[in-house]
Amino acid sequence: MKVKTPRLRRPNTPFGGLKSTLKGSTNKDSRRLSGLRAGQIRIRDLDRVLEIEKASFGADAWERKLFADSLEAGDLLLGAWRDGKLTGYLLAAEGKRRAELLSLAVDPAARRLGAASLLLNRAMSRLRRHGMAGIWLMVKTGNRAAEQCYEKFGFRRTRRVKKYYEDGADGWRMELEFRGKSIPPKR
Ligand SMILES: CC(C)(COP(=O)(O)OP(=O)(O)OC[C@H]1O[C@@H](n2cnc3c(N)ncnc32)[C@H](O)[C@@H]1OP(=O)(O)O)[C@@H](O)C(=O)NCCC(=O)NCCS
Repeated sequence: MKVKTPRLRRPNTPFGGLKSTLKGSTNKDSRRLSGLRAGQIRIRDLDRVLEIEKASFGADAWERKLFADSLEAGDLLLGAWRDGKLTGYLLAAEGKRRAELLSLAVDPAARRLGAASLLLNRAMSRLRRHGMAGIWLMVKTGNRAAEQCYEKFGFRRTRRVKKYYEDGADGWRMELEFRGKSIPPKR
C-alpha cells in the first residue's frame, strides 16, 4: 500500500541500488530472467499498468492521471514484459541529488520471477547515469516482500515515519547511495 498522492504528502526523496542482487546473482536468477525484458512505458500501456496497480494495491491504487502526469513530467516509468505481456512497472522521479522511487508493482501472477529485480536494476543504472547520488523510498511497515526486495538491492532502513500512510500505518524510509557501488551489466 502506498500514499495516494505522494508529491502532495512528501516533499522529496532518494532510493537506491541493485548491487547486492548482482553480488548474489545465481544461475537460478539468469534462468528466471529469460523471457523478461525492460523498457519505457508509453501512454498505450497505461491500461495494463492500472490493472497491475489495482491488483497490487486495491483501494489504494493510484489513478491513471497520476501515471499520465508522470509521463508528461518526464519521470522514469519503466515496464517489465514477460513473453510480450507487461507484468510490472516502476516509477521514479529525479530530485536535485537523489531520486525517489515512487512506486513498484508486479502482477501477482508473475511474482518471484525477477521482474522487480530487473526494473530496479534498470532504474538504478539509468538514474546513476543521470548523475543521481542515490535513491530513496517509503515502504509500509510489515510489507516483507518489498522490504526484502529492497534489502537485496542494498537499501537500508533509515527512519520510521509514524502514521505515514492514510490508514495510519507507519512507513520505513529506505535509502541507497550509489557512490562506490558499481552498476551491474545490462540484461
Ligand atoms: C515487492 C514486489 C514488487 C516484488 O516483485 P517480484 O517481481 O516478485 O520480485 P523479484 O522476483 O524480483 O524478487 C526479488 C527479491 O525480493 C524478495 N521477495 C520478493 N517477494 C518476496 C516474498 N513474497 N517474500 C519474501 N521476499 C520476497 C526476495 O529477496 C527476492 O529475491 P529471491 O527471489 O532471489 O529470493 C511484489 O511483491 C509486489 O508487487 N508487491 C505488491 C506491491 C508492493 O508492495 N510494492 C512495493 C511498494 S513499496
